[in-house]
Amino acid sequence: MLFKNEEVLSPEYLPEIMPHRENQIQELARNIELLAKNKKPENIFIYGPPGIGKTASVKFVFRQFEEFSGIHTVYINTWDYNTTSALLTKIVLSLNYPIPRRGLSKDEILEKLVEILKKLKKGLIVCLDEVDQLIIKDQNALYDLVRIGQYVELPVAVVMISNFKNILARLEPRIVSSLGLTEIEFKPYTLIEMKDILNERCKLAFKEPVEEGVVFLCANHAITRGGDVRVGLECLRKASRIAEEQSSDKLKVEHVKAVLKDVKSVKMQIVKDNLNGVEKNIVEILNDGKTYTSTELLDEYINRFGQISQVALLEHIKRLKDIGLIKTKEDRTGSRGRKVYIRLLKRKRFK
Ligand SMILES: Nc1ncnc2c1ncn2[C@@H]1O[C@H](COP(=O)(O)OP(=O)(O)O)[C@@H](O)[C@H]1O
Ligand SMILES: [Mg+2]
Repeated sequence: MLFKNEEVLSPEYLPEIMPHRENQIQELARNIELLAKNKKPENIFIYGPPGIGKTASVKFVFRQFEEFSGIHTVYINTWDYNTTSALLTKIVLSLNYPIPRRGLSKDEILEKLVEILKKLKKGLIVCLDEVDQLIIKDQNALYDLVRIGQYVELPVAVVMISNFKNILARLEPRIVSSLGLTEIEFKPYTLIEMKDILNERCKLAFKEPVEEGVVFLCANHAITRGGDVRVGLECLRKASRIAEEQSSDKLKVEHVKAVLKDVKSVKMQIVKDNLNGVEKNIVEILNDGKTYTSTELLDEYINRFGQISQVALLEHIKRLKDIGLIKTKEDRTGSRGRKVYIRLLKRKRFK
């Protein structure tokens, strides 16, 4: 038996310890402590490149505090919820209160939320992950959120996360001053730090200590591929598959060496394993990280790869969505019918 607990190698696993994020975690925790003591907390802006523990650190701190602090914590990826109404609705639902998902006005939802918080006597801290969309589409939502604190006379704070520091430049001065943001920078990990992180995961994952050199190889691969921890985890997962095929009880350097060339980036492998030609082409277009409307994507596709019908393209987009490679979003607010926005999930991008 190779594994003790295979699950800890999955990127969704939230670790019990996060080496080299102690400072950031402490700073976040300090802020929530203020909140718990009913003192005025700071609103926080976290930034740094992908795959270096931004989301995990916030979830880590939220998990710690949710249990005993009397603070309600909500994690929201604002790609999915990028209007004030959608955000407020999501927060009410997270407090386990029923509310129709559509049909109520912003003020009605706000009133409901204020009423609930007053009743529960609970402060609120909301993490807005991938906040870029929200800032571009409806930054008044931020204003509305932090003002809830005044209505309920309980502390309310937001933690915003982005890959880009300069997204803040898009905020209106009025909103900047109402937020009064404290910035927390997440710097890329060094090789040694990456090794520590992967090492901890290995200790939990495998029955026997891995062979000397295994962690170094995986960490090095992750660092040279852009510094995303998920790449290192992917190396370990793939290598363990080889080890299992060979009925090895120990993960060895030879297993890692056999898979390194296949772990170009996390997404690369998924692409190779699952996609047909058209889908690969679509992914290649979206790989620039931009958001496309379906019409723009169709134009670009025809431009670069030749004729395809809109129906066929949408069919492939649906499949890419089903396998979790892209996100789509509908906008029905425009005057000329619905618009579909499409983008590659960040973590799936080619490096
Ligand atoms: N310091 C760390 N210790 C343990 N795991 C980490 C650490 N930093 C990142 N990870 C892991 O790396 C993966 C990517 O982290 P994530 O927080 O999603 O990155 P980001 O939000 O910065 O893009 C997750 O599986 C996370 O658990
Ligand atoms: Mg993240």
